[in-house]
Amino acid sequence: MSDGFVPPVYPYARLDALKARAEGAPGGLVDLSVGTPMDPVPDCVVRALADAGPGGAGYPRAVGAPALREAAAGWMERAFGVRVDPGHIVNCIGTKELVASLPHLLRLRDPSRDTVLYPAVSYPTYAMGAQLGGCRAVPVALGDGWHLDLSSVSDEDAARALLLWVNEPGNPTGSQSAAGPLADAVAWARARGVVVASDECYVEFNWDDAGDPAPGATALGAGADGVLAVHSLSKRSNMAGYRCGFLAGDGDLVAYIASVRTHAGMMVPAPVQAAATAAWVDDAHVEIQRARYAERRRYARSRLAEADLVDAGGPSSFYLWARSADPAEDGWAVAARLADTGTLVAAGDLYGDGGAPYVRIALVEPLERLELAFDRMALVEPPIVSTGGQQS
Ligand SMILES: Cc1ncc(COP(=O)(O)O)c(C=O)c1O
Repeated sequence: MSDGFVPPVYPYARLDALKARAEGAPGGLVDLSVGTPMDPVPDCVVRALADAGPGGAGYPRAVGAPALREAAAGWMERAFGVRVDPGHIVNCIGTKELVASLPHLLRLRDPSRDTVLYPAVSYPTYAMGAQLGGCRAVPVALGDGWHLDLSSVSDEDAARALLLWVNEPGNPTGSQSAAGPLADAVAWARARGVVVASDECYVEFNWDDAGDPAPGATALGAGADGVLAVHSLSKRSNMAGYRCGFLAGDGDLVAYIASVRTHAGMMVPAPVQAAATAAWVDDAHVEIQRARYAERRRYARSRLAEADLVDAGGPSSFYLWARSADPAEDGWAVAARLADTGTLVAAGDLYGDGGAPYVRIALVEPLERLELAFDRMALVEPPIVSTGGQQS
């Protein structure tokens, strides 16, 4: 047997046993675990896909059709007031694929560095992408507001760092996107020759502490030099099943990444590119979606205490990051308790060891299903003793 890479159990597969328990509840499973957006795909997108017709002969461009890159640049300008050259945009087959492959691509370009820095409590694919790229995955502690605490990075890790991931609004913590922390991260990385990849896929769902919509920021607001911004249509436009996102920023980096991706045939199918173009030029559907998540956030927060839970996260994204009112009850124990009432949430340690006391509640089901979930949770007494980090 070689000592080659063995993929770990997929994070959400660790919830399978709890899912089976939750499925038996009266009223059925309310699945707030994986966080797949389940609201309708906007009409303009469905129409554009239909209008794309059967003309799929010929390969699409790996970087994306000119109209798609223009549409993405237009949205960046409307959303952030930042003008990106459409030539400095490359499309990807959903951003998970890009997150998983970026360290490999950057390492091909600069083999002298071997370390990927990423938020210590975060989307698991940041660490996985580092491993797949043959890099060291080094978590960075989170400080106030669940923002990166870059003062905690050792000089050695900083000197070896190829890439720093930033994710604001943050999954799973709900940290708020703001220009200040992003500019600080860019300044830190630039001073050390580290590329910043800013995963901004939740930026349309950014609220302040009072729950009012707050303009989200892009790391490109601090200039494009050494910076890549990553955007997805999965959350903004409920298009997770279409698989389309983009990367924008530093012209040299984007050109290199685009070139390797073209050689590797990493292409978004042409009809999906047409649908994605329609999504980036339309903002009305996003306002509707933002209102849905805002309503669900307000509702779920107002009922957390009945489930003996406390909101411990930031105000943004469509996740609640919560912990038990009982400090002895960890995230797995909470997830098990809620599963017994028919609701599946994600145990916080799926996002890093520091997440162990928490659960992530994805507000992807409609309000009626959340009402059912919280009604059922409110009827159950929490256990007196912790089950001690039970895992499925
Ligand atoms: C922080 C973050 N980045 C990237 C992704 C990947 O999204 P997609 O591949 O659908 O664009 C997700 C999905 O949940 C995410 O939470």
